[in-house]
Amino acid sequence: MRFVFLGLPGAGKGTQARVLSERLGIPQISTGDTLREAVQEGTALGIEARTFMDRGEYVPDGIMVRMVDERLHDADASKGFILDGFQRTVPQARALEEVLGQAGTPLDAVVQFLIGDVTAIRRIIGRSTCPACKRTYHQEWSPPADDSLCDADGTPLEKRSDEDALTVKRRLAVYREQTQPLEAFYAERDVLRAVDAEAPVAVVSARMFDALRDVL
Ligand code: AP5
Repeated sequence: MRFVFLGLPGAGKGTQARVLSERLGIPQISTGDTLREAVQEGTALGIEARTFMDRGEYVPDGIMVRMVDERLHDADASKGFILDGFQRTVPQARALEEVLGQAGTPLDAVVQFLIGDVTAIRRIIGRSTCPACKRTYHQEWSPPADDSLCDADGTPLEKRSDEDALTVKRRLAVYREQTQPLEAFYAERDVLRAVDAEAPVAVVSARMFDALRDVL
């Protein structure tokens, strides 16, 4: 099964991709996490990507398409995957369509998580992330048992470098300019499933499973 998750920054793509990945036993492929790892390791990709990410802008399509194409050839993606954060532009969507078309493995569904700007900003400003297992927490809605440590592995939680209010506003604007056109792109292909994501995590998960019931 092959899925793409779309939605504003903070819509809960990562949170719900983890839920679906655990249920189906297919990998969650987060381009944001992969880029942040590259930044942390100081690779050439990381150094280049950081300048875009810290401004709240997108990393160039050529880099992203190569990165995802390589990842989809890994053995764990052979039975399916959830793409969390890819694609974000029409050229990326066309490139993925070509790669999957050649392999005879088209997407089963594109899930669009719908939230408003106010929720997006509150979710991102309140988020902290475990750098080891990538689990996310929220100071208001899903705090860790210990204020600053990951419940799963005890690693100190971190804030991302693109989570200040100004950068978040830029990320919302970039989404509207460059990613929103994908809604029409996938609606035309009849794979788009919209999920109202303005609800607690478990309710959104139930809505997601409901939206996907004919393909699961
Ligand atoms: P990326 O890391 O993918 O960021 P994003 O898409 O902006 O999304 P977020 O990770 O901020 O949010 P999310 O929807 O996953 O929400 P989450 O589940 O964490 O990308 C970062 C950057 O990398 C981009 O800006 C770009 O520069 C670059 N990049 C990545 N992919 C790229 C591409 N393909 N092309 C070009 N550039 C690319 O939830 C948020 C918070 O809310 C958490 O605290 C969570 O606990 C909480 N929460 C979640 N759901 C709920 C709920 N239902 N109720 C209450 N709280 C909730």
